[in-house]
This record gives sequence, C-alpha cells and structure tokens, in this order.
Amino acid sequence: MRITFCCIGTKPEPWLAGLRTALPGAEVEVWQAGAAAADHAVVWTPPQQFFDEQTGLRGIFNIGAGVDALMKLKLPSQAMVVRLDDAGMSVQMAEYVCHAVIRHFRELDAYEADVRAGRWSYRKPSERAEFPVGVMGLGVLGARVAQTLTQFEFPVMGWSRSLKVMDGVRSFAGDAQFRDFLQASRVLVNLLPLTPQTENIMRLETLSLLQRGGYIINVARGAHLVDADLVALIDSGHLAGAMLDVFRSEPLPVEHPFWQYPNITITPHTSARTMRDLSIAQIAQKIRSLDAGKPVAGMVDMQRAY
Ligand code: NAP
Ligand code: GLV
Repeated sequence: MRITFCCIGTKPEPWLAGLRTALPGAEVEVWQAGAAAADHAVVWTPPQQFFDEQTGLRGIFNIGAGVDALMKLKLPSQAMVVRLDDAGMSVQMAEYVCHAVIRHFRELDAYEADVRAGRWSYRKPSERAEFPVGVMGLGVLGARVAQTLTQFEFPVMGWSRSLKVMDGVRSFAGDAQFRDFLQASRVLVNLLPLTPQTENIMRLETLSLLQRGGYIINVARGAHLVDADLVALIDSGHLAGAMLDVFRSEPLPVEHPFWQYPNITITPHTSARTMRDLSIAQIAQKIRSLDAGKPVAGMVDMQRAY
C-alpha cells in the first residue's frame, strides 16, 4: 500500500515515522510533483495539482476536523474523504469555550484591569439564568462543548440540522428554528462546518436577534462571521464583545481592527489543535477499516460538504 503525505505547513518527518510504525508494510512518502500514484492520501490544504496528479486515491484523510479547504477543490470522484473525528480535539474545544464563557461571565478582564490599576474592587455577581449559551453545531465538538457547559449550570441550547436529544441541552433544528434559537441565546458559540449554507451566518440580521449584551465565541471558521457587522453591534452596545480564534485571513493581517479592538479577544487558530499521535492512530485504523470494507467514522458527505 502506498500513502502520500501532503500537509501544507506541517513538519512531515514525525508524521511519516508515525504512519510507517502504525502501518507496517505501507510505503509512506511526502508528495512531490510527478510522484507515483498512491492508494491513500494524508492531507491538509493541499493544492489542486495534488489531486490532478493523484487520480487513483481510495481514501483522502484530512488531518483536521474541518474539510472546507478540500471542498473547494476538484477531488477524484471515487475517493472517500475522511476527517478527524475528535482525536483529542473535543476536550480542547470544551476547555477553550468554557474558559471564554466563564471569563466573560465572571468579568475576569475587568478584575484584571482593576488589579493592574491597584484597585481592590467588587462587582455585582451576574445571574447564570441571564447568560443562556447557544451552541451552533452539535457535532463531535459542539456536543462536547454543550455538555461541558451544562456542568457549570448555564442554560444551554444547541442548534443543528437534525434535532438532538442531550441531557440539559435544549435542542433546536433547521432553518425554521434558527430565529427562536438566536432569540433565546445571549452567548453564541460557533462550531458549524463552513459550507455554502453556513458562510456569513453571523451577520447583522442574525446577531441582532441575540439578547442584549450578547457575546460571540467563534471557534469554527472566520468566513462564518461578517467582521464589520460584529464591530457595528459592539459599537452600538447590542453586543458586549467577542472571543475569536479564527479569521477570514490567517494570520490575521496586522492592519485588521480586531488586533486592538476593545472587548474583542483574539487567539491564533489554536482552540483545538491536531494531536499528532492520536491522529496517526485514528487515521491508521481508518485506513485498515476502509481497506477491509468496514464502516469508517468521520466520512464526509459530499452533498452536505461536511
Ligand atoms: P461535525 O461533527 O461535522 O458537526 C457539525 C455540526 O454542525 C452538526 O451538528 C451539524 O448538524 C451542524 N450543521 C452543519 N450544517 C448545518 C446547517 N446548515 N444548519 C444547522 N446545523 C448545521 O463537525 P465537528 O467535528 O464538530 O467540527 C466543527 C467545525 O469546527 C469544523 O468544521 C471546523 O471548521 C471547526 N474546527 C475548528 C478548530 C479550531 O482550532 N478553531 C478545530 C477543529 C475544528 P447535524 O448534526 O444535524 O448533521
Ligand atoms: C482546525 O481548524 C480543524 O478543522 O481541525
């Protein structure tokens, strides 16, 4: 079996070594233009040329959860596209989002500013019931985030394409229930895949429906959010602020207002990192299952584009 590795921005050697150990007998090499045809590919944001040459692939294994970059390319029609299925990401996402919610709810930035100014100050505690958290996307990551938030006793809601049954989480589904979901939320967490249906989903008309004092946590993709609309709603006082991990252009350009904007906290696309060893073990298992004709979790539905 031949495996080709084409992960832009990723140091290949440890991946090659890990894949060779996990799949003894497989030939695993970094892709180069003109390379021999492979059976499977391990990829992250590969160029179109890669697929133009590797037309016989059976499996395309993405070393992230989001496949939006792949969906923009023309892929070999027979190949199965498989994404990472948690692989250590859901716990990271839960800690990042809970941190963001709690930091905002407990006004920790304001306390820090007071301490820096030498002030010993108290603020009136906020009521949890007044901070309903809505999670957009209740898949592998969103479900873990929503469930973890219930442990802190926030009212938690989730929105997805199909209705879910989750302890302590009020589920909304589909376009018909989107408005009700937004109106019931004050903190909005985005964990949707980026698809033609979800691009620009956080814009003036949708974010205006959030309860006054709303707070945005975007950990999915930058193109879900219309940046200028977020700024306008913070300026108008409708939204209190945002914590953003993903941006339309990454690295975030130096001149972008988010770098310095009051009440916007940014991090460099780090909320849930790919954990190499867990991912290699998962991909190796999936390759074995695919080759044995067994079902594989995390298969991308090309019609839904996630
Ligand atoms: P997933 O398991 O595929 O879950 C996607 C969820 O979104 C599902 O609940 C799905 O509904 C829902 N959804 C999709 N399209 C929808 C629509 N049009 N309307 C309503 N709901 C819709 O994905 P995941 O593994 O949780 O990952 C989610 C995203 O997180 C990834 O696509 C990626 O962009 C992002 N991510 C970011 C980082 C980071 O470091 N910032 C790391 C990893 C992933 P159904 O359940 O009904 O299908
Ligand atoms: C990271 O953004 C991922 O999709 O895994």
